[in-house]
Amino acid sequence: MLNMRRFGKGVDEPVWIEVLNAARKDHEDWRAISVEEMLLQEKHPEFDFEGRFIAELDGKLAGVAHAHVDKLRKDGKGLIRFDVIPEFRGRGIERQLIETALRELKVRGMTTAQAWADSRERDHIQLLETLEFKHVRVGSMMEIDFANVSRNIGENKEVAIRPLQKDLDEDITLFNWLINETFEEHFNYRPETLEETRHFLFSNPYLKEQEVFFAVLNGESIGYIGVGIDEKYNLEKKVKAGEVFTIGVLKTCRRTGIGVRLMLHGLESLKVKGMTSAMLGVDDYNPTKAIRLYEKVGFRA
Ligand SMILES: CC(C)(COP(=O)(O)OP(=O)(O)OC[C@H]1O[C@@H](n2cnc3c(N)ncnc32)[C@H](O)[C@@H]1OP(=O)(O)O)[C@@H](O)C(=O)NCCC(=O)NCCS
Repeated sequence: MLNMRRFGKGVDEPVWIEVLNAARKDHEDWRAISVEEMLLQEKHPEFDFEGRFIAELDGKLAGVAHAHVDKLRKDGKGLIRFDVIPEFRGRGIERQLIETALRELKVRGMTTAQAWADSRERDHIQLLETLEFKHVRVGSMMEIDFANVSRNIGENKEVAIRPLQKDLDEDITLFNWLINETFEEHFNYRPETLEETRHFLFSNPYLKEQEVFFAVLNGESIGYIGVGIDEKYNLEKKVKAGEVFTIGVLKTCRRTGIGVRLMLHGLESLKVKGMTSAMLGVDDYNPTKAIRLYEKVGFRA
């Protein structure tokens, strides 16, 4: 018998982690996460503690779903994520998790549901389509081997690069302001709060050794790049891969080679730390066509 129950905060974190790790272990870009990391994630200033469900089949853990509400979003959209352990797939549990999450979003005042699905899980996508979800976005992971980095491709040589100093409040405020200026035209954008930027810089459970660099032109910071290293990922996958987690250039300064310059600097800083490759995630429909910049530098999907 299928039992759907609510997540118990402070009790069910190990259960949640067990399902996620079992459900995603065959994803090549997934690495096992720990309860401690989940607890750090829960410290995110806007973490939504409600709307989490656990599915058990005949007393055995089978799946989880989170009907996520972002209180700072004003558009009435909630986000559903669901995972089912492989041995329990194809028995209708996915559908019940989604339907439970949809009811939950409705009760919480949401008017639209978005759901996240991995493109390799065709059955999940088909199921969402039968429930009237429409495809709105596709994302890709891209990688670059440092041996294949292209140089002399129009990088701007006039800008200076300086690191963000984490002990300087004005640097954190500047980073937060730049993020919001540069991402405002993006899908699902809502302003990132200063607390969220701080959380990311100081309490990020996954990326250690993260650094942010500013591009400075005539004394003004006009762009940034953030890079970091997920040591556990590297250990598990036996790679030395760094991660580019963000990049942005103010609108008025785009298409002058600053993005390339920042990217080359960020990759070099990862190389200095012993990395041999880097990866990043990109929205294929990014309105500023960031994917073109990545391809120009040598990243491949
Ligand atoms: C993506 C972004 C960082 C690019 O910065 P940039 O300083 O304009 O990039 P560059 O001038 O170095 O561009 C280098 C090359 O990338 C490609 N490129 C960049 N923007 C492009 C666009 N809008 N359309 C087509 N190609 C583009 C071009 O090949 C360009 O070279 P070219 O100008 O000689 O043709 C910038 O548009 C931005 O801040 N976007 C918003 C934030 C964002 O989306 N970040 C990425 C999240 S994944």
